[in-house]
Amino acid sequence: MPANRVEVLHGVNLDTLGSRDPDKYGNFTLPELEVKIGRFARELGLTTQFFHSNHEGEFVEHLHRLAEVADAAIVNAGAWTHYSWAVRDALEFSGVPAVEVHISDVSAREDWRKTSVFDGLVIGRVFGKKEEGYREALQLIARELGVDAP
Ligand code: DQA
Repeated sequence: MPANRVEVLHGVNLDTLGSRDPDKYGNFTLPELEVKIGRFARELGLTTQFFHSNHEGEFVEHLHRLAEVADAAIVNAGAWTHYSWAVRDALEFSGVPAVEVHISDVSAREDWRKTSVFDGLVIGRVFGKKEEGYREALQLIARELGVDAP
């Protein structure tokens, strides 16, 4: 089996895309974003699976099983990014290479958004590029996994 399975993990509040501040988060809904990510991935020779939860424990339990279903991950953990050491520990436990993505520019917002529990753990961080950030993350993953575009 080729190592090209990417799990795209959406954390707390990401299901409000589409009605959340469009200047920061764009006009797309989460299902619309997933269609775009799926298209970006196919262009790169990657396959995608998606998971969303607003419940930290459920998110953590999903990370515990991540290595069984994915070769790499994209993680947008929403606000958990800035304080949940439990989510960081669970991603580390998975051993799955991951890229951290944020739709908004977290570097230009409140100070508390500038810290990430994933620092030093992820293979890359992409923020402030709306849906295009996911394309960039997938490119990093294709390079990491040694997958060539079809
Ligand atoms: C976010 C940025 C976080 O600071 C925020 O809490 C979110 C979304 C983003 O995608 O820009 O919920 O992760």
